[in-house]
Amino acid sequence: MSSVQETLRAAIRNIPDYPKPGVMFRDITTLLGNPQAFRRAIDELVHPFAGTKIDKIAGIEARGFILGGAMAHQMSAGFIPIRKKGKLPHDTVRIAYSLEYGVDEMEMHRDAVQPGEKVILVDDLIATGGTAEGATKLLRQMGAEIVAACFVIDLPELGGRKKLEDLGVKVQTLIEFE
Ligand code: PRP
Ligand code: ADE
Repeated sequence: MSSVQETLRAAIRNIPDYPKPGVMFRDITTLLGNPQAFRRAIDELVHPFAGTKIDKIAGIEARGFILGGAMAHQMSAGFIPIRKKGKLPHDTVRIAYSLEYGVDEMEMHRDAVQPGEKVILVDDLIATGGTAEGATKLLRQMGAEIVAACFVIDLPELGGRKKLEDLGVKVQTLIEFE
């Protein structure tokens, strides 16, 4: 494992049985509170896109907002918030999705992306991939070209990466946990 991966892994806090028994919650608030680890994570997330024109970063509520805002600033891109239902004030497009421990609905503003714009999707973690799959469908419905989907953490046993790759989305992750 590289030292970057070790730094990021060590900065993440593991909380057993949260929010439900049997779930090992990977808590990135400790990484966000560590200046070196936060900067390294953002640098690693944007690195593959150096020299590529990216129009917008689409961040998934809630932790994708923090990472996506920092990425958008570093890449001089715009930011699209993909939110849980009922939070956005203008016309939205909405989709139901399932995740590791439940079901929900997410939405984005219809005018948040123009057809053909190059977008990177970002969230802190991919587990079953249900959340990122929903976000992918929303963005594509509005005509976005998804250049890649980026996550700090992959839980490979839950199959999310494969789910996105089967949709034709390039997936970039920084560290894996069993
Ligand atoms: C977490 C995480 C991802 C999602 C991944 O968010 O931040 O968005 O779960 O799970 P999946 O790959 O199985 O869909 P959560 O649903 O806990 O919402 P929160 O960010 O509002 O806490
Ligand atoms: N979202 C889905 N599964 C998760 C986990 N194990 N830790 C943090 N966020 C999650």
